[in-house]
Amino acid sequence: MVETLVTIRTARPGDEAKIADVHDAAWRDAYRGIIPGRELERMIARRGPVWWRNAIARGSRLLVLDFNDRIAGYASYGRNRVPALAYGGEIFELYLAPEFQGVGFGRRMFEAAQKDLADHGYRSFLIWALADNTRAIGFYSRLGGRIIRRAPEKFGEETRERVAFGFD
Ligand SMILES: CC(C)(COP(=O)(O)OP(=O)(O)OC[C@H]1O[C@@H](n2cnc3c(N)ncnc32)[C@H](O)[C@@H]1OP(=O)(O)O)[C@@H](O)C(=O)NCCC(=O)NCCS
Repeated sequence: MVETLVTIRTARPGDEAKIADVHDAAWRDAYRGIIPGRELERMIARRGPVWWRNAIARGSRLLVLDFNDRIAGYASYGRNRVPALAYGGEIFELYLAPEFQGVGFGRRMFEAAQKDLADHGYRSFLIWALADNTRAIGFYSRLGGRIIRRAPEKFGEETRERVAFGFD
């Protein structure tokens, strides 16, 4: 029998290259055809292992989905960056590698981040997603999020709409 060990844990030094790989694969999968190609390549190139090593060293709130020592996804979160919106916390990013999507890990990562936010006093939080990212929109709606704000986001010369989901 083959046993599978799946854990959600805080990122640690040594994870950076694997998180960068998940970021690369998930962003290409999610945003190809939504974010203009050149901008997307720039955004991915900026987030290599060095960027992630610094994020881990800074002590950013960063969880990883550890699947038999493979990193299958990550979630980062902290204080809401838009004080005008009355939500204490924010999930900045929640991404799974494409082959791990659609089997319940997104919900588990979301709930782990939600719990850690609550443990740090942030009972309400928000999450931004691009309006064209239908998978994310469906997922956050299903998890009980309510659209509380729409705003434009520039990608080079082009503009896309993003939406904030609030969770109380
Ligand atoms: C969005 C994402 C995190 C969701 O994770 P996931 O593992 O695929 O989703 P889950 O399997 O945990 O689904 C959780 C629930 O949401 C529902 N759901 C998932 N996607 C949905 C969709 N597009 N529309 C409606 N419901 C959806 C599931 O049916 C499930 O419902 P249930 O738990 O009540 O049965 C993941 O698909 C992902 O990483 N996508 C690419 C990156 C991305 O877009 N990230 C968000 C950026 S803001």
